[in-house]
Amino acid sequence: MRQERKADRNGGSASDKRARRHRSTEVDNGAEAALELIAGTFSGARTANQIAAHIARLVARGRLTPGQRLPTVRRSAAGLEVSATTMGEVWQTLNRSGVIETGGRRGTFVRAAAAASAPRFWQLYPPDNDGRTLDLSEGVPDPRLLPDLQPFLAGLQIASTTSYLDAPLLPDLEGLLRKAWPFAPEAITVVDGALDALDRLIAQTVRPGTRVLVEEPGFPPLYDLLELAGAEVVGLEVDAAGMVPGALRGALRQFADVLMLQPAEQNPTGASLTESRAMELAEILLDSGTLIIEDDHSPLGSSISLGRHLPDQTVHVRSFSKTHGPEIRLAAVGGAGVPVRSLIRRRQLGPGWSSRFLQQLLVDLLIDEEVAAGVTAAQRSYADRRRAITDVLDERGVRYGPGSGMNLWIEVADERSALVALAAQGIVVAPGGPFVLRNQSNHIRVTVGAVTEGHTELAHSIADAALRRGRANI
Ligand SMILES: Cc1ncc(COP(=O)(O)O)c(C=O)c1O
Repeated sequence: MRQERKADRNGGSASDKRARRHRSTEVDNGAEAALELIAGTFSGARTANQIAAHIARLVARGRLTPGQRLPTVRRSAAGLEVSATTMGEVWQTLNRSGVIETGGRRGTFVRAAAAASAPRFWQLYPPDNDGRTLDLSEGVPDPRLLPDLQPFLAGLQIASTTSYLDAPLLPDLEGLLRKAWPFAPEAITVVDGALDALDRLIAQTVRPGTRVLVEEPGFPPLYDLLELAGAEVVGLEVDAAGMVPGALRGALRQFADVLMLQPAEQNPTGASLTESRAMELAEILLDSGTLIIEDDHSPLGSSISLGRHLPDQTVHVRSFSKTHGPEIRLAAVGGAGVPVRSLIRRRQLGPGWSSRFLQQLLVDLLIDEEVAAGVTAAQRSYADRRRAITDVLDERGVRYGPGSGMNLWIEVADERSALVALAAQGIVVAPGGPFVLRNQSNHIRVTVGAVTEGHTELAHSIADAALRRGRANI
């Protein structure tokens, strides 16, 4: 008995220790073999990007297999004759793009499958809504405020495609888009929604290690897309007038390959760029070589854009989901020629174009005066619904994002208990965590645009939940 206790205190019996030493030597041998393979097959410039790409290729070709232990930063830096800083960047890039995983003290391993995961996206939405809950988590427009598509579908006049090489954008739609675009785009096209546009632009412009500046808080699926592409994602603060210039200036002390922002009704804060803020940001970005990608999903389409000041450096994306319904599945992408043309050319290898049926439907909707009046009226309804809630939040001393639109970004004392308190009353809202890069935030996002009645009661429930402290303080 005494002997057992002694053995325990010393971390096991002598034979346990021998077995452990043997196992750890085996493990180290595994990591050494991986390093030998990596170093032995590598040729090229010893930059973090090149080394990361090389290791990713070894994984993709099955030369390094899932679960394979990898050497430490220090050991691999020595083996590849680069600095520990460079090697640290390599592991970070590979980790972000899902090629490897780090298990803390257990070490670093090739990931089981470099599967496309989207961690933030799936955290946003509740599991199946059983119909009994009031779901204010999704940020989608109220279907009752969208145009009725039925008569437009019935009257749709369409010409058949004659060639896969026809211009992907219907000339009538191109004319309407160019007229409404906030600046003269060098190239323009339509794809299947704003997220499709962002996904395709990222594919054209982001490689492992590309430094991308984003708004924080920001749109969770965008963070997912960037991390899957292996970008170095840097979050910049947003205030009532949009991205904060000081934050952008600070980030540009290094460099930035890409800057992504939402010019209007920023999701989740609701902030919209002012013209003077856009000018200030453009001035900072002048000569930076940074590509600016704007995601405008706001209902009326923003006339404010950095592209008015830096047209050669800006690509603007305009979604029609909020005005004409997500089922329209179209967004326009226009601006700087190189990225937009490369998107168009790359897409030719896949779907080629967005269905001209939908494009024609969008043309018919865009030129219809009743539809236009309906879109404006819908925005008034969203504003009224929002005010009905914020009046109570103001009264109760609850803070929320400064802007407009269908979402409210609400500060809460404790995110988890706010979500639980609302869920207990059958109200589902989005957690704030996925909207920030570190995935932790004392906020919730509530799609108040979806609320048609009982605003005061709902607002009080939200305020109670927002002011509720965590369990430790109950
Ligand atoms: C900021 C932002 N970007 C993109 C999208 C998706 O737009 P789409 O439906 O055009 O893909 C949304 C949808 O809510 C959004 O809020």
